[in-house]
Amino acid sequence: MRDPLIDSSVTLGVTGSIACYKAADLASRLVRAGAKLDVIMTEGALRFLNPITFAAITHRPVVTSLFDPQSELAMDHVALARRSDVIIVAPASADALAKAAWGFAGDALSATLLAAEAPVIFAPAMDANMYDNAATQENVSRLVSRGVVIAGPEEGRLASGLIGRGRMLEPAALVDHVRIALSRHGDLAGRKVVVSAGGTQEPMDPVRVVTNRSSGKMGFAVARAARDRGASVVVVSAPTALPAPTGIDVLRVETALEMMDAVNAQCEDADVLVMAAAVADWRPSGAADRKLKKGTARSLTVEMMRNPDIVASVRKDIVKVGFAAETEDVIENAHGKLVDKELDLVAANDVTSADVGFGSDTNRVVLMDRDGGVMELGLLDKYEVGHHILDKVARML
Ligand code: PMT
Repeated sequence: MRDPLIDSSVTLGVTGSIACYKAADLASRLVRAGAKLDVIMTEGALRFLNPITFAAITHRPVVTSLFDPQSELAMDHVALARRSDVIIVAPASADALAKAAWGFAGDALSATLLAAEAPVIFAPAMDANMYDNAATQENVSRLVSRGVVIAGPEEGRLASGLIGRGRMLEPAALVDHVRIALSRHGDLAGRKVVVSAGGTQEPMDPVRVVTNRSSGKMGFAVARAARDRGASVVVVSAPTALPAPTGIDVLRVETALEMMDAVNAQCEDADVLVMAAAVADWRPSGAADRKLKKGTARSLTVEMMRNPDIVASVRKDIVKVGFAAETEDVIENAHGKLVDKELDLVAANDVTSADVGFGSDTNRVVLMDRDGGVMELGLLDKYEVGHHILDKVARML
């Protein structure tokens, strides 16, 4: 299973808001990710954008009226409701939320929403006072109680010049909301997957740490792949510049000991642990509580002590996947870790080349399982590597 957007049928409802310009970007991202996209524009949206914009992006006619004789909806007014795997309304104006909350059906978008059985996502965009108004909040609660997802809005600078809650979420985040809605019946639905990511930092003193080159990209990519197969996902991450992906809880830790506590706590009710983090095998024996002064010393000796093995400390009755970052004898060393750490699967990566392992967007791994199965993957995007790992995990569950 790959990106759930591929070959999915998505309907995008666009309503009247200055955030309409972002809807064009959203449409483009959905189409590029492989969705078959239909667009419905309300009268308000037509004041901001020309339907040709969406027609050019989707290569499909854009629905602008329930009564347009040229439109598919004139012959079958619930055609899009039936065809859609998910419907997203972005931007969603206060008016659109109110119509949906009260079951209006006098325009193409409202009628489609009323007839829809597919999951529905609203991405509100409006002035903060309009969003915070009791009427809008009641409408939002009403929609949420029916299972509708309200994605956003964010705090930020609004078209009125005010700062407040009312900015539409960015298109990349909305694409992820669509993925999450599409993956609700994925092969990991109902499963909890814990993923570790990044390189732990072991303090020497309040300003210096011993760490490694892990960027966290591999772990975050596995986490996104698990989310896109329906899992509930928690990432336990050592310091990284990566933002939390939409729909994934990220617990930030620094040291191996902190990671061990967080991983064990999260694994209490988990089905799968994927340890993609580069955990420091050693930590300075005692971190100084003041900055170490260099004075006139020409060298410094730091005594290091062994960190505990995190993956080995976790309960045995869940599926455990480890990574092995190797610079020589990759297969032999990785096989040793599979056995010693009692893993179900190990992903061995040779971290000596630039496009593999630390910091890169791609990786080349060999997957080895307990039963002697070996699968050599070519150079792939880390998200794809994540899916290959999860293909095997799904079979083990
Ligand atoms: O983050 P990126 O920049 O994307 O880089 C990705 C990566 C190279 C870090 C990743 O692909 C990878 O190989 N991660 C594991 C790195 C590592 O620490 O390997 P190891 O061979 O030292 O450890 C083997 C396994 O035991 C790993 O799953 C590790 O998380 C785990 N371990 C290690 C030490 C320890 N004290 N406790 C552990 O659980």
